[in-house]
Amino acid sequence: MLDFQAILQEIEIEIQPYLTQGKIASYIPELSMVEPTSFAMSLMTVDGQSYHVGAHHKRFSIQSISKLFTLTMAISLVDEKIWERIGKEPSGSPFNSLVQLEYENGIPRNPFINAGALVVTDVILNELKDAQKSVLNFIRTLAEKEDINFDFSVAKSEALTGFRNRAMADFMKSFGNLHHEPSRVLDAYFHHCSIAMSTQELCKAGMYLANRGVQPWLSEPILTQRQTKRMNALMLTCGTYDAVGEFAYRVGLPAKSGVGGGILACLPGNFSICVWSPRLSEKGNSVAGAKALELFTTKTKMSIF
Ligand code: DON
Repeated sequence: MLDFQAILQEIEIEIQPYLTQGKIASYIPELSMVEPTSFAMSLMTVDGQSYHVGAHHKRFSIQSISKLFTLTMAISLVDEKIWERIGKEPSGSPFNSLVQLEYENGIPRNPFINAGALVVTDVILNELKDAQKSVLNFIRTLAEKEDINFDFSVAKSEALTGFRNRAMADFMKSFGNLHHEPSRVLDAYFHHCSIAMSTQELCKAGMYLANRGVQPWLSEPILTQRQTKRMNALMLTCGTYDAVGEFAYRVGLPAKSGVGGGILACLPGNFSICVWSPRLSEKGNSVAGAKALELFTTKTKMSIF
């Protein structure tokens, strides 16, 4: 039997030299207000055991990890129809790149780059009037935590500086791939990214990804087993930006990262795992976070491969 708590504690020690590597995201000014050497890691097994190290109660900006939850909502609302408007291939380009969009007629490569998440948000707006609040409520239900909330100062900071996202939304509108006003879609998207959660909460919220679509504490499944397999496939191939090959090579788990420094990953059938450390690699993934996950799969020999 593996001693997960002891393994997390070893990782917390071995990770120390990596906490000073990389840079905090500052293109959203409010994101740079965080303590740069913060570290937290949480693990939850499908049989309900939890293990934590570091600042696992501390909430941080989930940023692009929200793309997992918005895609889950969109898939449960419209299922396969979503793929009429978004691809499912790795982009090989930065998450905020505009070039592919022109070549590919306003159809984003995948739902985990910014353009893809804007279309996902537009799909949710088609089905539900309030995309902002419905996503927040969904996350609160997944994590069983009613006080999870938007960080309005982060959302405002991004609204003031999100020129590339605005360009992307306008561009997709010109191709007819946004049905609502770009400003409305952007406002909801910035709020989704601003949601603040701890590793403990994210790890719990993402349990369905490890557990065939089911949150054991909820009466209804979140996704079918087939939809969950597909979410995991997308995480593995598109979840860590244009570093996805390197991440699969080193870590070997489906994962989604965010520029707040969080990474949520899982081993289907086994566990959900979340790590946070705000300094990022050039590609936008947490340096210490990716290293901690690599150490975890190396020490436990538990990965999808
Ligand atoms: O749109 C942005 O640039 C941020 N709100 C989120 C970026 C992020 O975490 C990486 N995206 N895939």
